[in-house]
Amino acid sequence: MNTAQQTLLVLGATGKTGRRITQRLEAAGLPVRQGSRDANPPFDWEDRSTWDAVIDGVHAAYISFQPDLAVPGAVETIQAFTDLAVKSGVRKLVLLSGRGEVEAQQAERVVQDSGIDWTILRASWFCQNFSEAHFLEPIVQGELALPVGQVAEPFVDADDIAECAVAALTQPGHTGQLYELTGPRALTFADAVTEIARATHRNIEFVAVPAHAYRQAMEQEQLPPALIDLVLYLFTTVLDGRNTPVTDGVLRALGRPARDFSDYVQRTAAAGIWGKGRTM
Ligand SMILES: NC(=O)c1ccc[n+]([C@@H]2O[C@H](COP(=O)([O-])OP(=O)(O)OC[C@H]3O[C@@H](n4cnc5c(N)ncnc54)[C@H](OP(=O)(O)O)[C@@H]3O)[C@@H](O)[C@H]2O)c1
Repeated sequence: MNTAQQTLLVLGATGKTGRRITQRLEAAGLPVRQGSRDANPPFDWEDRSTWDAVIDGVHAAYISFQPDLAVPGAVETIQAFTDLAVKSGVRKLVLLSGRGEVEAQQAERVVQDSGIDWTILRASWFCQNFSEAHFLEPIVQGELALPVGQVAEPFVDADDIAECAVAALTQPGHTGQLYELTGPRALTFADAVTEIARATHRNIEFVAVPAHAYRQAMEQEQLPPALIDLVLYLFTTVLDGRNTPVTDGVLRALGRPARDFSDYVQRTAAAGIWGKGRTM
């Protein structure tokens, strides 16, 4: 097999999981093609004319969809991408999916029915939402307000997802496996913020707000209606308690337990991402 046949494509290569996967594959000396709107060639889910050049010569691909597999049209897009991948000679697909999202399971089935090797990584909410996404700025400001109450979520570390993805892309034993990836412990958003506050020695409040008030606030910020619906779906439907039980997906995939939220918090606090409070 020549190098071109072994090229590994990582979609969402600049995102929370894709960046970590790319780093690990490159560190192992493997040929990686980054899927990003800023890469050369660029990849854009919304512009199918970009897909051919990106998939050409790829052996295995990691699929991280945007914005979410639960949005209308996602299944059709994943079907079109999968069809093109199969036609182009891709041998393996690794799909990142969302736990508790019934709609996302239709997209999983598209990949499972592709006729080529597949692995599904069905992940719970990422720890890194608190440090690499929309929760970061409010935490730095000292107050995180979200439309979620006492429901507990077993946040999963994006580093664990990345290691599972690398294993699935590069090792045969993960073919035909659906891994439900969670952390080892479920905690509420208030608990999560308390841990971050303690580790950073800062006062950070968590405030639960009603969904309708959160919708109004997003409307006032003139966010696109489809994005508002997606955000509320993720905070209400997905966080209705269905995802609270922890799973052994990381252990099954990697042979070691999942990293705990406190491990993530210590690492991230030490890196100074959330700022520093007074020394206690
Ligand atoms: N975050 C969570 O807690 C969570 C939990 C479970 C599942 N998921 C799933 O994980 C996936 C990633 O979600 P995320 O929110 O965490 O984002 P993310 O991976 O951190 O970042 C977004 C990535 O998507 C790329 N991207 C954005 N728009 C794109 C487009 N139109 N075409 C091609 N690439 C595009 C960005 O690349 P460029 O800007 O460089 O193009 C970037 O690499 C989603 O499918 C989500 O449903 C997320």
